[in-house]
Amino acid sequence: MTAPLVRIINPNRSPAKNNRVLTKLSLSVVVGIVIGVTVAACGNDQTAQPKNYPDKGTPQAQLYMEKCSQCHAAPLPSTHTGRMWPSVLQRMQMRMKTKNVQPLSRKEMSIILGYLQQHAKSSPDKP
Ligand code: HEC
Repeated sequence: MTAPLVRIINPNRSPAKNNRVLTKLSLSVVVGIVIGVTVAACGNDQTAQPKNYPDKGTPQAQLYMEKCSQCHAAPLPSTHTGRMWPSVLQRMQMRMKTKNVQPLSRKEMSIILGYLQQHAKSSPDKP
C-alpha cells in the first residue's frame, strides 16, 4: 500500500533528488488546479451567454425566460419540436417539485408551452 509513497520519497536517494521529485509533484498539482479552474470558468461562461429568444419583448417570452432559467439557462425554443416540448415541460415540472422551486401553474404551463411550440423547430431531423 505504501509503495508509491516510498518511491516518491526514497531514503536511498540523495535529499536533493528527493526535493526535485517533490517540486515536480507540487508543480503538476498547481498546473492541474489552474487547468481545472479555467475549464470551470469557461463552462459557466457558456451558460451565461445571452441567447436570442424569439419575441423577446412579449409577456410570454418574459415569463418563459423567468421561469425556465432558475436552474439552467433557458434553452431556445428551437432546440425541440412542438411534439417534444410537452414531455420536457412535464419533466421540468417534476424537477421543480423535487428542488423546492415553485412549480408552474396550469396557466403558466399553457403560456410557456404555447410560446415554445410557436417557435419550436419544425422537424426532429433538423440540427
Ligand atoms: C428546478 C430546476 C429546473 C427548472 C426550474 C427548469 N429545469 Fe430544465 N432541467 C433541469 C435539470 C436538473 C435538467 C437535467 C436533467 C433532465 O434533463 O431532466 C434539465 C434539463 C433541461 C433540458 C435538457 C433536456 C432535454 O430533454 O432536452 C431542457 C430542454 C430543459 N431543461 C428545459 C426547461 C424548461 C423549458 C424549463 C421551464 C419550464 C425548465 N427547463 C426549468 C432543471 C430545471
